Amino acid sequence: MTYLVTGGCGFVAANLIPHLLTTGKRVLALDNFCRGSEANLGSSRHHPNLTVRQVDLSNLDAYRSAVSDAAGDSAIHEVWHLAANSDIPAGIRDSEVDLRDTFMTTYNTLAVMEERQVSRLFFASSSAVYGDHGDEILTESSGPLLPISNYGAMKLASEAIISAASEKFLTRAALLRFPNVVGVPSTHGVILDFIRRLRSDPAALTVLGDGTQRKCYLHVSDLVDAMLVIRDRSTDKVGAFNIGPEDSGITVAEIAAEVVAAVAPGATITYGSGNKGWVGDVPKFRYSLSRLQALGWHPQHTSLQAIRIAVREIARQEGVECGRR
Ligand SMILES: NC(=O)c1ccc[n+]([C@@H]2O[C@H](COP(=O)([O-])OP(=O)(O)OC[C@H]3O[C@@H](n4cnc5c(N)ncnc54)[C@H](O)[C@@H]3O)[C@@H](O)[C@H]2O)c1
Repeated sequence: MTYLVTGGCGFVAANLIPHLLTTGKRVLALDNFCRGSEANLGSSRHHPNLTVRQVDLSNLDAYRSAVSDAAGDSAIHEVWHLAANSDIPAGIRDSEVDLRDTFMTTYNTLAVMEERQVSRLFFASSSAVYGDHGDEILTESSGPLLPISNYGAMKLASEAIISAASEKFLTRAALLRFPNVVGVPSTHGVILDFIRRLRSDPAALTVLGDGTQRKCYLHVSDLVDAMLVIRDRSTDKVGAFNIGPEDSGITVAEIAAEVVAAVAPGATITYGSGNKGWVGDVPKFRYSLSRLQALGWHPQHTSLQAIRIAVREIARQEGVECGRR
């Protein structure tokens, strides 16, 4: 019995796969390495039960062949579909990007699952499906769902087609609506961006937007814990779950201050204008976690704690020295 993990060499997958390997089952990780890499898997990449294949999952024939070559006729127990575009501005500039990497990878995952009679799917969705709801506390039934980025639109379209597939052949489908997730191996995101900017110019940090954007941040250790709790304790045939911290989030200005204090004390911080970092950036959101809390899950860290831990982890990853707090 095999677990299939798409986007299997990315940030979240690198943290999920060690947990899947502890079950003794085989794990097949598929990734086109556009952002992920085998190195992200750390010591797991040498595990005898892990197989990694490089494949573009938006190409159905290549997807089928990769799974057949690696898994043969052995049964796939469940799929964790994590492959997607992670660069939201790139998807705004070129709408092909999210059609291909965020939606077609989902469409093809369902096609391969149906052909191989795999009926359990755990999908990495996003807060981006909600769009901009201002100060509303978002529940899984908030609406209308009007995404403001192509990324959010293609995540919502993915949720929709998964829902339809659950009428046909899926027996279990969880739509896991992630917040902003931080930790290592970092492949993208605000902390990595700030640390890289400060490495090239330790005297100044320019922030996109006016810094007032307020969002929820979850450490990846809490995220993976929540993903597994939902898999193990929820009984919905198909259902959405908000996953996030239990606080109201943290602003970009606060994150900038944390990063500067840790890696470049004294650097000046300059802000842009407007409360969006880029077109398609949702300036603030806050989740209701009641569905997840009803399963008995609580995160170990607040948004601020997650940011503080991740700043040090990512600085270490980038070879940047961190001061003592
Ligand atoms: N990290 C976050 O803050 C966050 C927030 C919300 C949702 N998510 C979702 O969680 C999932 C994992 O995110 P992540 O942070 O690990 O991102 P990531 O970019 O590190 O991982 C995604 C992986 O998918 C791979 N990929 C992309 N297109 C592909 C294709 N066509 N074929 C094969 N592989 C492809 C990339 O190479 C990458 O390794 C994604 O679906 C993402 O949209 C992440």
